[in-house]
Amino acid sequence: MPVFYRAGTRLARIPAAVFTLHQSAGLRWRSCRRPSAIVLLVSDRDQQRQSLQRALSVWGACRAFDLAEIEEIRKAAGRLLIVDLDLSRPATIVSASAALATHRQSGAPFLFLLRDMSPRSQMQANALGAQAILPAETPPSALLDKVGAMLGLLRDSGPETVLQRRFVRASAAFAGLLEAAGSDGPLPVQAINDSVEAINRAADDGNLDTWLDMVWQHDDATYQHCLLVSGLVAAFARKLGFGESDRQLMTTAAVLHDVGKARIPLDILRKPGRLTPAERAVICQHPQIGHDMLVAQGGFAPAVLAAVLSHHEMLDGSGYPHGIGADRIPDPVRMITICDIYAALIERRSYKAPMSPEEAFATLIGMGDKLDRDLLRAFGNVVLSSSVARLGKMTARPAASAAAEDAA
Ligand SMILES: [Fe+2]
Ligand SMILES: [Fe+2]
Repeated sequence: MPVFYRAGTRLARIPAAVFTLHQSAGLRWRSCRRPSAIVLLVSDRDQQRQSLQRALSVWGACRAFDLAEIEEIRKAAGRLLIVDLDLSRPATIVSASAALATHRQSGAPFLFLLRDMSPRSQMQANALGAQAILPAETPPSALLDKVGAMLGLLRDSGPETVLQRRFVRASAAFAGLLEAAGSDGPLPVQAINDSVEAINRAADDGNLDTWLDMVWQHDDATYQHCLLVSGLVAAFARKLGFGESDRQLMTTAAVLHDVGKARIPLDILRKPGRLTPAERAVICQHPQIGHDMLVAQGGFAPAVLAAVLSHHEMLDGSGYPHGIGADRIPDPVRMITICDIYAALIERRSYKAPMSPEEAFATLIGMGDKLDRDLLRAFGNVVLSSSVARLGKMTARPAASAAAEDAA
């Protein structure tokens, strides 16, 4: 029986049973994304416009406008308009009426977010064509549920609805986390716990396919990556038979693993293409930055700190930021590293096509002594069908392994 937590044994041992290949169907692979929903957001609040846009990307592409951009708003195509304006100002109502005119004719539904829910404001919103009205301070998860329902993407009932709502809750919590992390504020512990709970319960539902469908629909690459890694880690820990508190630790570590990227300049983080050595050196600081953020705030478990600091370390000492080797890399970190690289490989990036699960897994195998073979084999049970998870039948793809480490 493999021993879990070689460095500082504290958690459960991995049950031997999980290393025997099971007969489950494995992951369905969908190489195509669903067509993106297009949400148009018109807001006269700069900061909220940015954070709302990121949060709304859970349902697909969202374009955000200031009300001054009347012509752009008129020309933009959208399936749903979200209008976040101060309707107590007559000038705003005149501009909004002009900007929304073409969309009123096209029949796209309008959702208004009102600063005050007075009868007068509601009457103004209705006159401008509102089909739904919510208070501007509506909690993000409730707003995202409403938007999903108006787009026809959030199903009314059925087992997948519960999981969709969990995904939306986790994504909304990520919005708060990344915003706080990027603005030097304290990380919102409640939001982190909310997302961990939503992700672990989704893992209990056992439908990783639906989780992945939602991930692919998400239009923000950072959220997409964090939600994908977290979903994989949660499923992996559950498959290994971890108890609830250990699963909580693992998923918290996954949720936070790239939190340091919130302090990396966006032009480097979102560069559409391969990084220069200098840019790569900046990105490589994110594990240390994230670790230092958590230490400065305090209250995070040592296992979480270790995962944030060391998720790019390799067992053969070739990783970063400190080039430590196998004797200093505990198993939870090894698990997150595997999920992190796998996620990067199956994600669509501007400079590379997404790999299929089989190609991605073969690439992980091709990394040889960099990754933990026992854990990698167990991971195969989470993401591959039994027919391809037999390691003997997998062909390693060593050439792709350098790119794999780069991408995570
Ligand atoms: Fe990372
Ligand atoms: Fe990552």
